[in-house]
Amino acid sequence: MEINNIQILELPKHLDLRGNLSFAENERHFPFAINRVYWIYDVPGGEIRGGHAFKMQQELIIALSGSFDVIVDDGRSKQKVTLNRSYYGLYIPNGLWRHMENFSTNSVAMVLSNTAFSEDDYIRDYESFKHYKNA
Ligand code: TYD
Repeated sequence: MEINNIQILELPKHLDLRGNLSFAENERHFPFAINRVYWIYDVPGGEIRGGHAFKMQQELIIALSGSFDVIVDDGRSKQKVTLNRSYYGLYIPNGLWRHMENFSTNSVAMVLSNTAFSEDDYIRDYESFKHYKNA
């Protein structure tokens, strides 16, 4: 996969004086079926999360609250996407290196994933990622 395979997806939203509502359905609003949801929160200022690639995991990253930047890298070029609205999702296919940084206070990153957790799916070393991409 390459950097141009990522997608910023605008999710449905119902604007209401009582508050807004957004939703996302498997394979309708993003191109996979969810097997796992996890979220990252209480990130201290200046911390970086992620910093790895997945062999099989596809994901949709949503800033449920606050904002943060996602930097995606295909081994040749990088792209930074700022997420700051809870009705946008960043779709990242498998095989791309990514990290998250610049978390605002009280931000929450929700990750929808097509896979169950498996440490074997991670490539945590950047040089190994480069070899993986060139293999
Ligand atoms: P990790 O994905 O390494 O966090 P980050 O890349 O954001 O720094 O996950 C941190 C720890 O949590 C790691 O020991 C694996 C564990 N973990 C699970 O057990 N299940 C999960 O679904 C996830 C995402 C992580």
